[in-house]
Amino acid sequence: MGCDGVTRLVVVSNRVGDLDKMEAAGGLAVALGAALKDTTGLWFGWDGTVVENNGDSLAPKLTRFNSVTTATIPLRRSDYKNYYLGYSNRVIWPTFHYRLDLATHRAAFIDGYKQANARIADQLVKLVSPRDLVWVHDYHLIPLAAELRRRNIDNRIGFFLHIPFPPPDIFLANPDHAWLIETLFSFDVIGFQTTSDLENFRRYVREHAKGRLESEDRLCAFGRSVIARTFPVGIDADFFHHMAHSPEAHGQIRRLRQRTLNRKQIIGVDRLDYTKGLPDRLRAFRRLLELYPENIKTVSLNQIAPPTREEVTAYVAIRKELEGLSGEINGEFGDFDWTPVRYIHRAVSRDTLAALFRGSAVGLVVPLRDGMNLVAKEYVAAQSEADPGVLILSRFAGAAEDLQEALIVNPYDRDGVTNAMQRALNMSLEERRERHRALFKRVCKRDAKHWYESFLAALKSCSPKRAA
Ligand code: ADP
Ligand code: F6P
Repeated sequence: MGCDGVTRLVVVSNRVGDLDKMEAAGGLAVALGAALKDTTGLWFGWDGTVVENNGDSLAPKLTRFNSVTTATIPLRRSDYKNYYLGYSNRVIWPTFHYRLDLATHRAAFIDGYKQANARIADQLVKLVSPRDLVWVHDYHLIPLAAELRRRNIDNRIGFFLHIPFPPPDIFLANPDHAWLIETLFSFDVIGFQTTSDLENFRRYVREHAKGRLESEDRLCAFGRSVIARTFPVGIDADFFHHMAHSPEAHGQIRRLRQRTLNRKQIIGVDRLDYTKGLPDRLRAFRRLLELYPENIKTVSLNQIAPPTREEVTAYVAIRKELEGLSGEINGEFGDFDWTPVRYIHRAVSRDTLAALFRGSAVGLVVPLRDGMNLVAKEYVAAQSEADPGVLILSRFAGAAEDLQEALIVNPYDRDGVTNAMQRALNMSLEERRERHRALFKRVCKRDAKHWYESFLAALKSCSPKRAA
C-alpha cells in the first residue's frame, strides 16, 4: 500500500478487522491489521451486519483509519445463510481442515456462494482503479477474481489462503472441486501458508486438472499461468514483544501472580472452533493431574476461547463439550483455594493477551489442523529473554513448519501432549532460553511485514495484463 507511488493496494476479505481496537479473534484480521498499519490503501469486506434480501442498499460505507480506508458492505440474509454460514463454513472450512465428516453439501450453499461473490464483485468494481493491485484473502472469496474478470477488471489480482489446502483425496470429495480450482486460476498469484499446502495444490492441478509446473513457482492449467508459492503469515513481533513488556503489562502480570499465588500457568487462546483440539487438550491436562499429581494445586490451565460461528451446529456441540469437561475437571480436582481450569468465553484486548502470554510458563497450541496459528507466534514474541516460557505446538499447525524448537506434539496422542506439558513445566532455564532464542529469531524474521512485502513483490512481478 502506497506500493510504489503509482499503484494502490486494495485488500479484500470477508472479515474486515477493527483497525481502532484490533480485538478481533481471528488470524486474518490480526495479520492484515498488522500488515496495513504503516501503509495507505483500501480494505474492502463485510461489515458484520445482515440486511433483508430486498431491503437496504449494499453500497460500501467508507471509513478512514489513519492512512487506511475501510469500505464495508452488509450481507443479505440469504448470503449470510448460504455463502457465509453455508458454503464457506459448512463446506470449505471442514473440508480444507480434513473434516469430511462435518461437511454438509446443499445446492443452496454453492449457489449462494456464487451469487454472493458476484454481488461482492459488483460493489468492488466501483472502487477499483486500473492501476490498483488487488489482494483477495481466504476461502470465502475463491471465485472473486473470476467475477472481477467478467466485469473487465484486468488488474493484477492475488489470492492468499489462510487455511490449509488438503491433499487431493480429500479435496476430491468436494463435489465442486473442479470448479473451485478452475476459478482460482483467474488470479495471478496464489499464496499458501506451508509447503505441504502448496504441494497438495500442485498435486491436484497436475493429477486432476491436466496442469503442469512451468517453472519453480509457476503452474499452468486451463490455458492460464499463475504464480503459486508459500508466504507464511507472521505477526508484528516487535510490537507484540513491547506490548508484553510495557509497564501496564508488568502490572497485569504482578496481579495475575498474586491472584494465582505464584502457581504456574498454562495458557491456551483459540477461537472456539472444532479444529483447535480444545476438548483433547483438556483431557491431556486432566491426565497431567492423574499421572503427575505434584501438579495438583501448583499448576492451572487458562483457556481463552471466544465464540465463533455459533449458528453452525458443530460449533454448538464443541462449546457444550468444552464446558462439560472443564466443569468435570474442576469438580474432580479443584479445591476452595485452587481452580484447575479457568475457561473464558469472550474476546480479550491484545495488551491483556500479551501480558497473559508473558505471565504463563507454558503456551499450549495444539490444534488438530490449522493454516498457520498466530497464537503460537504471539506466545513466543511475548516471552522475556531472561526467563522465557515453553511453547508446545501441534505438528498439524502450519507454524510447526518453521517453529521447530517448540515441543512439537501430535494432538491426537493424549499422553504425548501430557508428557510434553510435564517436560515444559520442568524444563531447565538454560534449555528454555536456548529454544526461545531460536524461536524468537524465526518469528521476527518471518513477521507480518515480511509476509505482505513478499506477497506484493510477487504480485507486482506479474505483468499488468493478464498472463495467458
Ligand atoms: P484463527 O485464524 O483460526 O482464529 P490464529 O491463531 O491464526 O487462528 O489467529 C487468532 C488470532 O486471534 C490471534 O491473533 C489471537 O491472539 C486472536 N485471538 C484469539 N482469541 C482471542 C480472544 N479471546 N481475544 C482476542 N483475541 C483473540
Ligand atoms: O484465519 C481463519 C479465519 O477463518 C479467517 O478467515 C476469519 O476471518 C477468522 O478465521 C474468524 O472467523 P470468522 O470470520 O468466521 O469469524
